[in-house]
Amino acid sequence: MNRILIIHGPNLNLLGSREPEIYGCDTLDEVNTYIRNTTAEYGVDLDFFQSNHEGAVIDRLHAARTEVNGVVINPAAFTHYSLALRDAIAAVGLPTVEVHLSDIHQREDFRRVSVIEPVCLLQIAGHRKDSYVYGVEALLGHAVVEQFAGEAASLAGTDARLRRAVQLLHERFPKFDWTGIYLLEGEELRLHNFIGAPSPHTRIPVGQGICGAAVAEEATIIVPDVNADPRYLACSVETRSEIVVPIYSEDRIVGEIDIDSHRPDAFHEHDRWYLERMADQLGRHFNFEEIVWDD
Ligand code: DQA
Repeated sequence: MNRILIIHGPNLNLLGSREPEIYGCDTLDEVNTYIRNTTAEYGVDLDFFQSNHEGAVIDRLHAARTEVNGVVINPAAFTHYSLALRDAIAAVGLPTVEVHLSDIHQREDFRRVSVIEPVCLLQIAGHRKDSYVYGVEALLGHAVVEQFAGEAASLAGTDARLRRAVQLLHERFPKFDWTGIYLLEGEELRLHNFIGAPSPHTRIPVGQGICGAAVAEEATIIVPDVNADPRYLACSVETRSEIVVPIYSEDRIVGEIDIDSHRPDAFHEHDRWYLERMADQLGRHFNFEEIVWDD
């Protein structure tokens, strides 16, 4: 994923003056500059396009087929009725994420329906200009999972797969300051492999800490501010936020992906989306006999 097209649909050229209480005060140029600056650390080329015309958006998508690896699109009002745009996204076949500045599910009834969503990887709405940044991250996460899925069969067993997943995720996302996998051994989580500062928590009883809570609750847990969460077992004073994603094999939790960030509020629903897909890949053909412990 080295080139991404960002498309803005009709009326988004008026951002800044258009209903700022809903869409924010930034102009379209300012939004584009923000997206470019905020995603610069990923080293991806971004192309920007805006049009008020359905056909022009479709033509741009057709041209993008051979130019870019993914698309982040705010279809604006086309979201709610343009089957032509939906068909274009499906026809072009590029990984595409639908984004909205406002939360379309908390507004008028007609905005809750998206005819575009079924042909997109996911929909991200309600984070103002960050929706686009999260869209770019979702495409990058998708590419990591696809790369892993492509390599998985040629990796030598479960142990190699767990290590490769940590490596790919850690390399792709600078906001991941500590990336690791714990495996469940009886009633304890045992640290299998990680990249980042050494953690004192190499074994965590189920139910303790955020890692242990994710197993006990059988759910992904996102903690925007670890210092405000009494469950947090401090590893590093620099850690500000965390996400823990259970790995299931044959409907049983066998371990979890644990990621810490030095940035506050670093993880959102789109991170959950691609990390749960990675966890799903790791749970396939999971064989505890193939695990090699470092300690
Ligand atoms: C929008 C939401 C749409 O319902 C609306 O028609 C837009 C903008 C958004 O970004 O919140 O033009 O896509």
